[in-house]
Amino acid sequence: MATAVTLNTGAKMPIVGLGTWKSPKGKVMEAVKASIAAGYRHIDGAYVYLNETEVGEGIHAMIQEGVVKREDLFVVSKLWCTFHEKSMVKEACQKTLSDLKLDYLDLYLVHWPMGFKPGSELFPLDSEGLTIPDDTNFLDTWEGMEELVDAGMVKAIGISNFNHKQIEALLNKPGLKYKPANNQVECHPYLTQEKLINYCHSKGISVTAYSPLGSPDRPWAKPDDPSLLDDPDIKAIAEKHNKTTAQVLIRFQVQRNVIVIPKSITPERIKQNFQVFDFELSEEEMKTILDFNRNWRACPMHWGVKHKDYPFNIEF
Ligand code: A2P
Repeated sequence: MATAVTLNTGAKMPIVGLGTWKSPKGKVMEAVKASIAAGYRHIDGAYVYLNETEVGEGIHAMIQEGVVKREDLFVVSKLWCTFHEKSMVKEACQKTLSDLKLDYLDLYLVHWPMGFKPGSELFPLDSEGLTIPDDTNFLDTWEGMEELVDAGMVKAIGISNFNHKQIEALLNKPGLKYKPANNQVECHPYLTQEKLINYCHSKGISVTAYSPLGSPDRPWAKPDDPSLLDDPDIKAIAEKHNKTTAQVLIRFQVQRNVIVIPKSITPERIKQNFQVFDFELSEEEMKTILDFNRNWRACPMHWGVKHKDYPFNIEF
């Protein structure tokens, strides 16, 4: 079983990475260090997680200890929605690089297709509680992303939370210089994303699954929401393999060649979530898990529902 996915740039992206959304500043440095010690070589972050300085400290501590070299790591970050104006993209990426204290990123993603009003607020909201858009178009933002590759600041560029129509628009953009290398989307057995994944793979775009465990620590979780980690059917499959539910949820993505970024700040879980290369789900188990789909989103981003580029108003 491959432990990396080859991108359309030729680079290899480790198939299991550490997620850092919701990882507090005081915990994430140790989490990054524990992940690298456990064998992770891919760290996923974003400006909007407000912890990139501490993520960088974890990375540098392990480089200084001689555990890894920079070139052995695959570091991902994302352009936040308030920086979609083409003229703002370079500065936003520079800020992330200086917080991380790195001179390049392996992959930089447009975090959402939607642009928000620039300014100090990361979620500028109107009186109805809906995000205030800017007047950008993600095709222009993409040109700013392409400049980052040419400037040597990032090795590859990609997208996140784009639907297939938005990807198609990007692929058809006149003068497109670089195709997206990756689309990072929410994906787990309650949102299996078969159509979107097939579409992306057919276009040579790799897919990363975020919230692979259903993000039980998302701030807006309600007691009645479905819980993947407590799902008795997934637990039954895990028990058959002497594995945990989390390991089955991660292995499910690995077996469909989808990159996966479970988040944890707990050293034991960080280790556990990487122990997914010593067992295999049968074809039938994979099919059973795919049948759990119920198109449920942990991250619907409902503040953006009226935005012209809100991605979740169509099927995929
Ligand atoms: P913690 O970070 O406190 O260890 P997702 O990756 O879908 O966003 O899910 C992250 C959530 O799942 C966090 O609350 C994290 O807790 C929890 N988690 C991560 N790994 C495991 C695991 N192996 N078993 C149980 N819960 C886990």
